[in-house]
Amino acid sequence: METAEERKKRFRQMAQGALSLDIAFVGVANGLFSAMREMESPNAEELSAGTGMDRDYLVRWMDAAFAFEYLEESSPGRFRLTPAGEAMCPDAPDTLMPVAVGAVLSAHMAERAAGCMQTGERPGEVVLGERKTILPWFGSMIEANFSPLFSGQILPKLSIFEEVDERAGLVVDLGCGNGWYLVTLAERFPRLKGVGLDGFGENVRQASEKAKQKGFGGRLRFFQGDIRNYPLEDPVDVFVMNRALHHVWSDRETVFSFFRKNLSKQGAVVIWEPSWPERRADLRDPVRRPMAFQGLSEHVQGNRLLSPREIVDAFSEIGFSSTVLSFAGENESVVVARPGR
Ligand SMILES: C[S@@+](CC[C@H](N)C(=O)[O-])C[C@H]1O[C@@H](n2cnc3c(N)ncnc32)[C@H](O)[C@@H]1O
Repeated sequence: METAEERKKRFRQMAQGALSLDIAFVGVANGLFSAMREMESPNAEELSAGTGMDRDYLVRWMDAAFAFEYLEESSPGRFRLTPAGEAMCPDAPDTLMPVAVGAVLSAHMAERAAGCMQTGERPGEVVLGERKTILPWFGSMIEANFSPLFSGQILPKLSIFEEVDERAGLVVDLGCGNGWYLVTLAERFPRLKGVGLDGFGENVRQASEKAKQKGFGGRLRFFQGDIRNYPLEDPVDVFVMNRALHHVWSDRETVFSFFRKNLSKQGAVVIWEPSWPERRADLRDPVRRPMAFQGLSEHVQGNRLLSPREIVDAFSEIGFSSTVLSFAGENESVVVARPGR
């Protein structure tokens, strides 16, 4: 059995892990890792000139990033990235950026949950936008976390997009974030068209820019609006919602009648959600623990995570039949629903 001393040591190590990610976040949010990679071995003055950041803050950040082994000192006062520092560059293959952003976002959500618990207040989605250094990273964090799973495992199982591509059909992404999902589809399927909707202007701006940069400005369009009932011009071949249905679950009647009203005859709805387990004991699984924290953080936002069965039942109520696909050790579920039994 673990002694009190061993337990204390273990918790202090966990606290160091949090500090390491905090220091990494400061670097990610201000482009320091990428700038250091380009400049190779700058001192604080050169890094300040290259990034526009305050020189005295950079001196302190470099000390801390050295201590946590993101930087090596190449000569007195000059630093270069270690492999861990390279991995914090947001465009590095398999980047660690989302781990650092997620850690600081979680600290923010924990602080909000601690305060809101005293009154029962649930401020809603606005809490995600309260920290101006975190908000711009929210979309990229989700993209880096989930795009490899989508391209590698989920997309090969979704034949519906090939069908849509054949008829140059329309996919509408509700709660599209930074637009990565539609951009991935447009890269794979040359005729498919897409519309993405999101409530955060920053997400819509990033999504439009990403589509333009990739040359998909003509096929993909992004708009700011409420996904519960956005006026759509054409019938939709596929509605997709990734980690967005639980945001509007309390108003699901409106959302599901919106599907029915706008979906074409051979259309489908593809919902991707974290799978809240039916058994509480499953939350102890280290792979699922972050979801237990997310459950609290979603509560602050006015949301609740869903089990796949709840989603299937809701589709059944509007006369749609569903297939559930599971990924990532049953942590992630994709529900494909079509009109008819
Ligand atoms: C967890 S994020 C997922 C983003 C994106 N689907 C992805 O996979 O990267 C949920 C998104 O839903 C959007 N959202 C939630 N409720 C909304 C509403 N009522 N109207 C518009 N957007 C909404 C949020 O702004 C946020 O971008």
